[in-house]
Amino acid sequence: MTDFNQITLNLSEIAELVINRPKQLNALNSETLGEIGQAIDLVQADEQVRVLIITGSGEKSFVAGADIKEMKDKDPMEASEFSQLGNAVFQKIATLRQPVIAAVNGFALGGGCELALACDIRYASENAVFGQPEVGLGIIPGFGGTQRLARLVGHGQAKELIFTGSNIKAPEALDIGLVNKVVAPEELKDAVTKLAERIAKQAPFAVENAKTAINHGLDMPLEQGLHFEAISFGNHFATEDQKNGMTAFINKEKTTFSRQ
Ligand code: CAA
Repeated sequence: MTDFNQITLNLSEIAELVINRPKQLNALNSETLGEIGQAIDLVQADEQVRVLIITGSGEKSFVAGADIKEMKDKDPMEASEFSQLGNAVFQKIATLRQPVIAAVNGFALGGGCELALACDIRYASENAVFGQPEVGLGIIPGFGGTQRLARLVGHGQAKELIFTGSNIKAPEALDIGLVNKVVAPEELKDAVTKLAERIAKQAPFAVENAKTAINHGLDMPLEQGLHFEAISFGNHFATEDQKNGMTAFINKEKTTFSRQ
């Protein structure tokens, strides 16, 4: 367990990062964002970590947004720097070599919804609430919401959510593709752990490279994305995991993978 002031990081095969400001509903201030960035660097460098789970402490909130009390008196330059800090940290999550699962255990508003969007997969508890309420505060989403929400759920749904600042509950978030799965609050930890275990059993390089190929593909024309995939596909044939995986299949044996 690596302790920070505002988050907790547990490094193991299935690592867990908990945002730990329950009295502020886990709102993100500059210090929290800085600590998340440091934690992501540790996860990236840790050979044993196969999957990272991000969640919020307490039963009420995943993250209730960027810290409004910290933001209120910022001037335009300071506010833009705050947005750039959030975007840099969330981009680290999005491009982390390991897959990241958001376990959304309550409010995921503003920067909280954006944190979930920066993760690869989102599982939510039935009491989760999603929204980008920024226009009701006189601002726009500033940690990637105008970009990632539209890419995930389409620009029509994203514009409706962002222009109205409306909150939606977990079932509606599932309907529009904002989350992958909704479970009872007491089942969230188990459901996310099972998913992480399943991913952790696969060939690690292959999972990492699949993440990279999907992410790059979203930012490229199809032809370029297919070319990127073909190069990456070929690279796997220089790995032990490919040889062991295919040999085990042909011999009807089970194999474990080593990231080699
Ligand atoms: N920033 C700072 N403090 C926050 C916060 C936030 N985003 N969200 C909640 N808190 C604090 C509250 O101020 C309150 O603190 P005090 O006890 O000191 O008053 C504490 O957390 C508990 O909150 P509430 O009493 O409001 O709890 P509630 O159950 O009545 O309501 C809620 C819960 C609906 C989530 C409500 O707290 C809320 O609307 N929060 C703000 C949500 C929001 O607007 N988020 C977007 C922020 S802007 C942003 O994120 C910009 C960006 O993209 C970068």
